[in-house]
Amino acid sequence: MTIIGAPINRTDGWAKVSGTALYSAEHKVDGLAHAVLVTSTIASGRIKHIDTGEAGKVPGLLLVMTHENVLQLPRETKAGKVSPPIGRVLSLLQDADVHYNNQPIAVVVAESFEAAREAGARLRVEYEIYERAPAKLDFEEAKQHVHPPEKVLTQKPDTQRGDVQAGMLSGSASIDATYRTPVEHHNPIEPHATIAAWDGEQLTLYDSTQYMKGVQRTVAGTLGIDPENVTVLCPYVGGGFGCKGSVWSHVLLAAMAAKMAGRPVKLVLDRNQMFGPVGQRPVTDQRMRLAAMTDGRLTASAHDTVACTSMIEDWIEPCGLMTRMMYEVPNQETSHRLARMNLGTPTFMRAPGEASGSFALESSMDELAWELGIDPLLLRLQNYAERDPGKDLPFSSKSLRQCYALGAERFGWSRRDPAPRSMRDGDKLVGWGMATATYPTNRSKGAASATMLPDGSAVFRSSTQDLGTGTYTVMTQIAADALGVPVERVRFELGNSQLPEAPVSGGSTTVASVGPAVLAAGGALRLKLIGIAVADERSPLFGALAEDIDVRDGELFLRADPSRRDAMAAIVARHGSGAVEVEAEAEPGDASKQFSMHAFGAVFVEVHVDELLGEVRVPRVVGVYGVGKLMNQKTGHSQLMGGIVGGLGMALFEETVFDKRNGRAVNGNLAEYHVPTNADIGSIEVLTVEEVDPHVNPLGAKGIGEIGITGVAAAVANAVFHATGRRIRDLPITLDKLL
Ligand code: MOS
Repeated sequence: MTIIGAPINRTDGWAKVSGTALYSAEHKVDGLAHAVLVTSTIASGRIKHIDTGEAGKVPGLLLVMTHENVLQLPRETKAGKVSPPIGRVLSLLQDADVHYNNQPIAVVVAESFEAAREAGARLRVEYEIYERAPAKLDFEEAKQHVHPPEKVLTQKPDTQRGDVQAGMLSGSASIDATYRTPVEHHNPIEPHATIAAWDGEQLTLYDSTQYMKGVQRTVAGTLGIDPENVTVLCPYVGGGFGCKGSVWSHVLLAAMAAKMAGRPVKLVLDRNQMFGPVGQRPVTDQRMRLAAMTDGRLTASAHDTVACTSMIEDWIEPCGLMTRMMYEVPNQETSHRLARMNLGTPTFMRAPGEASGSFALESSMDELAWELGIDPLLLRLQNYAERDPGKDLPFSSKSLRQCYALGAERFGWSRRDPAPRSMRDGDKLVGWGMATATYPTNRSKGAASATMLPDGSAVFRSSTQDLGTGTYTVMTQIAADALGVPVERVRFELGNSQLPEAPVSGGSTTVASVGPAVLAAGGALRLKLIGIAVADERSPLFGALAEDIDVRDGELFLRADPSRRDAMAAIVARHGSGAVEVEAEAEPGDASKQFSMHAFGAVFVEVHVDELLGEVRVPRVVGVYGVGKLMNQKTGHSQLMGGIVGGLGMALFEETVFDKRNGRAVNGNLAEYHVPTNADIGSIEVLTVEEVDPHVNPLGAKGIGEIGITGVAAAVANAVFHATGRRIRDLPITLDKLL
């Protein structure tokens, strides 16, 4: 294998920079009408009436779809009950209830976007607000009534081992602190967008999604139609970060409006509508208790999370899972609780659980190190887990020691004076902080097809997604190696629900799930071509044994006599069928029962803090990761770097602020919801250590989509403490908190 791992350029790079890559809202569909979503302006209550009189005067208006005239969706289908619809609890205008501000309450369709927007603005919505049951918009109040979630991903909400109380008392130093992470919104540059077109019973959806097959099944199940009648297309995604992993209301509303209007309909969320109906990272309060002996060895740890959820659905941020597996500690408790609020339902966002949980765990470890008077890195090493203490399983591989060592060396950690406020650069306080990064290595079943064409090029296909991460590129590399053809002769197609099934591109699983299927399809196609050649008397390889044949650069040859060779193109041409095709599936075995599988890393951060203004700058980050086999050095490092940038956003900028009177996001735009820009980012050095993992999947690759963000916020907070002596326990670390 030679192409896997190589730092080749993105195969879709040219299409993207030249503007020929079409995103969901850009597809040309005949007879297209334009829809806008109208959303609620209250957080709780019900709609008494929607007056459409003024809207009706807008020229070009085609449809105002409200709860008063909408299609009634089936409550039962062949597949079972559709209440709530498959997946998430959606707002599909089936009743008049309002559960959060910015909830979809109507769709307006017109000949032009401008007309739809104008008509939408003219709707007069009359609400009934229940005076006795005011909207729950205060987390402090909501926290007074919590309930446990059923599960935390696949794990239990609470765990306990040993005796935490005794462990806390037996330590010579302890920490009891609560960390807060705010509501954040994903804000991919491409907003959610759907074009829905019906042709009789057939529905075609161009939808920006992280899960083609999920859209197909959810839409079919909710509308009560056969999934065979739904085709989802999405060749390019302009960022997802988790919000496009679920099907939200607008996708179905677009399909319903298209049916009612009798026209294909395009519905694009405006930026403000990204703040409510399409998921968010919930606010969390995480109480950490840690105790350790003088040498740093932990005697107890406890991690108790309370997160908000919506009134209509339970979704828990899995903050405590990292704590269960990260450090060797004899006494431990973790718990997760939910507090209902009149906000949109939370969802997966950029390393859900590990990003937010690592802020609490890795900040508290830093606090403990300071209490004990030992180096923060040494504290991690003193508690290094050789096997997963939560699952009591060995790790499939773990290179965290190497990550710590290499990161410390590259960063210059040994030159750190541990005393806060001890380092300066001119009038800036300088702080150095570090934290551990980790993310689980997941895998699902995947499938792919491989086709050899008579011109010697190969096409591989799977209904997977490329969120901008590099799926097109790395699958092309895997396919080229598996088949034995030059990478330029392989084309990889994705983004079509009719292609062989692939799982959601969430949880950093795409390479681990689809990669093995592409590998298997390439191998199967190679074998099939060999079989055709040795059975064809026109082939120079006629009569040879299949196992004696090798392949290179698109040619089969006899290992013992390389002059006997046959090009794949020639084999297909003689075969007469036009193309030779195979399909393959790959699914995880029971490795996850035998091993705990995670990627690990270490992140080191330098901050400069302006003492007078409280401004924090991050001139330098070093992140070192053990992620198994990296599929592409260039796109892989870019992805890890992008994760670190997301982590800096979490540390310093990102927070959705709600108006406590009405539950509206007051910074629901990209001017006031701050994400890092180039000017906010200094040097980011990304390194990976050699790591061979034969257990995770046949490629030995661990997911890298999300680990980059983990640990960063804690490392920044730890560096800010080192610079200033001020411990900031609530994100983001804005200047007001430092003044
Ligand atoms: Mo990612 S937040 O698991 O889509």
